[in-house]
Amino acid sequence: MADAPPEGNIVKIVIIGGTGLIGSKVAERLRSKGHEVVAASPNTGVNTMTGEGVAEALEGAQVVIDVSNSPSFAPDDVMTFFETSTGNLLAAEREAGVGHHVALSIVGSDGLPDSGYMRAKVAQERLIRDGGVPFTIVHATQFMEFGAGIADSATDGDEVHIAPVKFRPIASDDVADAVADAALGEPIGGDVEVAGPEEFRFDEFIAEALAARGDTRTVVADPAAEYFGTKLADGSLVPADASTARLGTTTFEQWKAAQAAAPAR
Ligand SMILES: NC(=O)c1ccc[n+]([C@@H]2O[C@H](COP(=O)([O-])OP(=O)(O)OC[C@H]3O[C@@H](n4cnc5c(N)ncnc54)[C@H](OP(=O)(O)O)[C@@H]3O)[C@@H](O)[C@H]2O)c1
Repeated sequence: MADAPPEGNIVKIVIIGGTGLIGSKVAERLRSKGHEVVAASPNTGVNTMTGEGVAEALEGAQVVIDVSNSPSFAPDDVMTFFETSTGNLLAAEREAGVGHHVALSIVGSDGLPDSGYMRAKVAQERLIRDGGVPFTIVHATQFMEFGAGIADSATDGDEVHIAPVKFRPIASDDVADAVADAALGEPIGGDVEVAGPEEFRFDEFIAEALAARGDTRTVVADPAAEYFGTKLADGSLVPADASTARLGTTTFEQWKAAQAAAPAR
């Protein structure tokens, strides 16, 4: 296999949340390069909230990737999830001598303190920075796959209220490429940003995403609309400087075509 690591360079990589949207794609990419990958999640007997199976999974691992997510987005639940699971995981990594912790956060997470979800991601990032394990934090913009979930959270009757701010959605495949590359690189002890290749207005993107699904809800451009509990400024959800971010290559049109061609789940 052309991409296989040189003999002796096979790395054991544990992916917490390895059964999720991003985790399963990262696992596929790293396995195809010949690495030993453990896709860890409660469904595979590894639970970072309770600690079940974590030490066993981490035995001999050089790299841990955390792409887990809270089952509940209620502000207190999500804070408890990221604080407890990250704390448990970092303690187990120190014990196991893991050399690189890679985590996935969100572009602009530290600029939206009124959002309970963003506060929890910032708490996760702080624990990682102070956690004593060499790290890389990848910040991604919103996944194209998340369009319908955003619409549901912003629906009032038959209307979806969305602030008309800058938006750079990224395909989950492009996020997975960036996370896999980060895991195979050296820990940078800081942040990298990844974003989609095109800029939309947020309301315009959600309207197009709903139309593509045959969803007839009306999207209203509403500057006062909240996004998961917070007001948005024009630049809240995009990299401050797109020229310094890694940009995905999948356009929204390409993503929609791939979704339409995929077998129904
Ligand atoms: N959505 C966006 O637009 C966006 C943008 C930027 C960054 N992010 C970040 O991307 C990350 C991954 O998101 P995703 O959409 O890929 O998540 P997802 O599909 O919801 O997957 C979540 C994963 O977390 C696992 N998990 C849940 N509880 C766990 C626990 N106690 N211990 C270990 N694993 C647990 C789940 O395992 P089971 O299947 O076994 O339950 C699943 O594998 C999140 O941290 C999120 O903040 C999201």
